[in-house]
Amino acid sequence: MKRVAPAKINLSLEILRRRADGFHDLRSLFLPIALVDELTFSASDVFTFTCSDPSVPVDEENLVVRAARLFGHGELPPVRIHLEKKIPHSAGLGGGSSDAATTLLALNDLAETPRPLADLEKLAGQLGSDVPFFLHRSAAWCEGRGEIVHPVSTPVNFALLLFKPPFGVPTPWAYQKLAGSRDLPGIPMSRQQTGAGLLFNDLERPVFEKYLLLALVKKWLLEQTETWGALLSGSGSTLFAITATAAEAEAVRQRLLEEFGPDNWTCITTPWQGE
Ligand code: C5P
Repeated sequence: MKRVAPAKINLSLEILRRRADGFHDLRSLFLPIALVDELTFSASDVFTFTCSDPSVPVDEENLVVRAARLFGHGELPPVRIHLEKKIPHSAGLGGGSSDAATTLLALNDLAETPRPLADLEKLAGQLGSDVPFFLHRSAAWCEGRGEIVHPVSTPVNFALLLFKPPFGVPTPWAYQKLAGSRDLPGIPMSRQQTGAGLLFNDLERPVFEKYLLLALVKKWLLEQTETWGALLSGSGSTLFAITATAAEAEAVRQRLLEEFGPDNWTCITTPWQGE
């Protein structure tokens, strides 16, 4: 059985307060996108997990393995799972969280007595703040620490250019540095009203302060005539730019790689519109 696990971007990310448990309350508009990982589930006598990307851990550190164990009430279920990784990690694109949610959904479909979505949401919340969102496969406003999900429909008639430098940004670090971070002079960080909605991300401040390249690339993206807007996704290190068409995104990509070098990962995609 094959399943795809879509990545996400955050069209907006407002951090409301730091909580006593160390997490932050937020309000964020999550958009699933057509960049996907692929998972294959097959019958097996024992649990096995393999991944196409050798840099991805395949032990209990991996959210797929943790999702499987949680689904099996502490036991690893007898299933073979293979993950074809397309979504870069430490990228702010939610790849690991989406793989975990997809594992819960697939194991539930294979189970003799499937559990209701509300039960899967509880398990998902234990795996990570973003995991419940990925159970819904729809754009959604996410609140609390991210686990309170309100699906919505959003405009989908645009293209996306994703840019990720060779380094990643650790999410806990970005949240820790939020208090005390400052705007960088000359870098546009105010709210952008676009055909895809209002764009802003409170995590840009701490992330741009340390990773100046990301601030410069965002500024450069906004200067291109084709772009409706540009923003850091989640805690980064991926930036996204919105254009009307894939051809326009491609034109921006060519110039972007000339300007900032071919070592950077780029991808042209669209909002997720189902399988
Ligand atoms: O929930 P998840 O494991 O994805 O979160 C990773 C880290 O990001 C947390 O340990 C915390 O430091 C930070 N975080 C936060 N507030 C959130 C989500 C994540 O502070 N709402």
